[in-house]
This record gives sequence, structure tokens and C-alpha cells, in this order.
Amino acid sequence: MPRLLLVSNRLPVTVKAEKDHVSVVRSPGGLATGLSRPHERSGGVWIGWPGDVSRLSAAQRTQVESQLSALRCVPLYLSASEVSRFYEGYSNRVLWPLCHYLLDRIPRQDRDWEAYAKVNERFAELAASHYQPGDTIWVHDYQLMLVPGLLRKRLPEARIGYFHHIPFPSSEIFRTLPHREDLLRGLLGADLVGFHTPSYAHHFSSSLLRLLGLETDLDNVTYEGRTVRVGGFPMGIDAEAFEKVSQEPGVLEELRVLKERSAGQRLLVGIDRLDYTKGIPRRMLALQRVLERQPALRGRLRLIQVAVPSRTQVEDYAAYRDKVDELVGRINGMYGTVHNVPIHYLYRSFNEKQLAGLYRAADVMLVTPVRDGMNLVAKEFCACRPDEDGVLILSEFAGAASELRDALIVNPYDVEAMADAIEEALRMPVDTRRRRMRTLRAQVKSRDVHWWVGSFLDTLQGMPTPSIRKGSV
Ligand code: F6P
Repeated sequence: MPRLLLVSNRLPVTVKAEKDHVSVVRSPGGLATGLSRPHERSGGVWIGWPGDVSRLSAAQRTQVESQLSALRCVPLYLSASEVSRFYEGYSNRVLWPLCHYLLDRIPRQDRDWEAYAKVNERFAELAASHYQPGDTIWVHDYQLMLVPGLLRKRLPEARIGYFHHIPFPSSEIFRTLPHREDLLRGLLGADLVGFHTPSYAHHFSSSLLRLLGLETDLDNVTYEGRTVRVGGFPMGIDAEAFEKVSQEPGVLEELRVLKERSAGQRLLVGIDRLDYTKGIPRRMLALQRVLERQPALRGRLRLIQVAVPSRTQVEDYAAYRDKVDELVGRINGMYGTVHNVPIHYLYRSFNEKQLAGLYRAADVMLVTPVRDGMNLVAKEFCACRPDEDGVLILSEFAGAASELRDALIVNPYDVEAMADAIEEALRMPVDTRRRRMRTLRAQVKSRDVHWWVGSFLDTLQGMPTPSIRKGSV
């Protein structure tokens, strides 16, 4: 395996400071977990932001640096203004809502483009300084869309891949962005541009045609004398690891306690970052509709909703939190009793084992984002069900819906239809549940994260070698 130079906004570990103790902990999210093994195997380095280190003393900073260096992680520190303008600003106030089709959430005046471009320059500079001939560079996600192009200028012969972890929207949406051409040209610096689904790849190709006049022929596009390949590579999870955790004695004990305390109740589970793309309010309204329609289920149906705090400094996230809080209060106020409430709402991070316990306890797992690049929670749920039970309700607007066809697929904007799906899931006979779950699990296991990494890197490395490319230009 060639040496991999991974470049992502966040490192797979984040600095955690507690009083006088400082350490690095695993960053949440599929990107961090998914790429850890290839990073270990390739012996290369991973460049990214380790989180806020502004309050660390010089000695603590040295301590962190030695821990990062043992993991072959190279930190790129962001200043407070870069966090606010590059990360919270252009990345999460402009690109994030744009790629999720939520144009109304984009500020009317975007003042953060320059900061975005500058931080992308910093990433490219640092990555180029760690490059060794023969390395494969793999750049990740929307925070770094200019990096492939900036690297290409510095390293014309390097092998560069880019993967977009969120949806790529229809060209009708993408073209609304003032800096649309710069971003497309940035991505075209890569040899291979990957997306979770063929339809995102198709949207990207349409944008290339409409905005840059570039035609894609059988997944290939010629740009500045080079061939750039575009393709769908659905990301998977480490299914084996999740399955193993779900069978650990601690998890099974947690499951037993949870089941005992929920005796006589059916459990719905939702696990999301608290993000306005995740469709949490409509999901709760669907539960409310079920309770309205079926009085017999009152007191016998409970939703455990985990909301992991995320991007808390961005106003829309804070407003969304208020909206969810209010809805939980309203529904619990209406349908709660002195003994129980219909929504058990937990605003905090959970570790892998706690999550596995919840996945195992769920009669129905609700994954109903209004838009989502892939959604790995849906896959984690299936991997954690070696008992082959549980029903997955999955939004048709999650990338995972193009693979997990044995879920109950719903339109997350249609509250009535989601209520119907919850009722159907609760009624589903056990043999149907098992048949569906078996198929889902087979899918999740065969297209796991190792398959994903392998298929992306094999495609990238199968492209003409830099010297051949040089000759043909
Ligand atoms: O999957 C999209 C993504 O933005 C990843 O790039 C990131 O690791 C994850 O979501 C969590 O987001 P953030 O780094 O903003 O906390």
C-alpha cells in the first residue's frame, strides 16, 4: 500500500482539556473511524485541526503535540477568527446548508469566502510540505474543496483524491453560489472526485457542464490536459467492530436493564448530531400523530432521542435546539403521565457502547433526515443487530436509502406518511422483520468501510501514473 497523506478539516482525534490534565480523544463521526485503519496501515500522516487549543499552556501544548505525533497526526491550528469565519462561517453557514438544499439558511451577505480560501491555502501548504514522491494524497470534505486545486499547482505530478462526505446538490442549487466556479475548479485539481451516491456524482457532472462547459464522458472529464474521474463510492462502517461491541457483556447487561425498565413498552430510537438537516421535529410530530391516532399506545410507546451537541456557536444550530426543546416539552406535556413521557430526550454525546445498547434495544430505529450525504447511523443500527430483529425507518433523502432498500423508506417531509410507517413497523410480523434485517445486515457487512476505502483507492491508484500522465500532456 502506498503511503497515504490524509487531509481533513478535523483530525481523527480532538484535544480534550480538563483542569490540569490534557489528552486527545477520538473525534466523533464516520470519517474519523473509517479512515483510522488505512492511516495505520499506510504509515503516512494525517493533517487536520485538533480542535480548540487556545486555553492550553505551552507545556500542555507540547504534551498534545507529542501525543499527536505518536499517532502520526500533524495539527493545523485554527485561530479564533479562522474558526469563526472558515469553520463556522463559510463551511457551516454557507456550504453546509447549500449542499443540503436549504438556501434560506445561507446569510444574505457572505463575508467569509476569503477566510475559507486562506485556510484552504494553509492546508494545501502544510500537506505539500509533508508530501513525498509516490504518496497518495486523499483530501476530505466540503471544508477543503479548494485544496485539490491548490495542491495540483504545487505538486503537478501527485496522485490526488477527494471525497465529498455530504450531498452534492442539483446544479440548479449549486449555481446559486457566488464562488461556484472557484469551488468546481478546486475539486478538479484531484484525479478522482468521489461521492456517496451516483446521483451526487451526476449533479457534480451537470454543474461542470453548465458552469464550466466541461463534458463528462463515461465518468471522465478532461480538465487542463488531465483526466479527472468522477464516481459514486458509498461509504460503509466497520461493521465487524460494531457487531462485536454489540455483543459485549456490558452492552448486553445495559440492554437487559433497559428492556426491564421499558417492560410493556415499544421503543423507538433516534440518534443524531443536533443538526437542522436531521429532521428531528417532523419525526417527533410523526410520533405525536401516532399517539393522537392510537390512544391505546399512550404510555406504551416511547422515543429515546439522542441529540449530540454540534456546531453550537452557529445561530441556526442554537435556534434548532430551542425548537426541538420546545417540541419535546409540548409533546411530553400533552401525552406524558406521572409514570412516563413519550419522548426521552438526551442532549449529549454517547460512547460506542452506550450507542450499541440503544441500537439493540430499539424496536424501531428512526433515521429521517431531510437531507443527508449517507447517514452511517442507519448502517450502525443494522450492524448492531446480530439478533436479526428491529425495523429501520429511513428517509428517502439519505444517501443510505439508495443501498438499504429493505428499510421502510419514507418522505421525511410527510408527517402523516411517517406516522403510517411507525405504525407499520410496530405491526410488522417477526418473520418479516428478520427477513428484512438479514438483507440489510448482509448489505452493510459486504460494503463496509474497508470495501469503501479499497474501492476508492484502487480506482485512484489504477489511474495513469504521474509519469505516463506527464508524457501524455
Ligand atoms: O460528514 C460531514 C462532517 O462535516 C464531517 O466532515 C465531520 O467530520 C462531521 O460531519 C462532524 O462535523 P464537525 O467536524 O463540524 O463537528
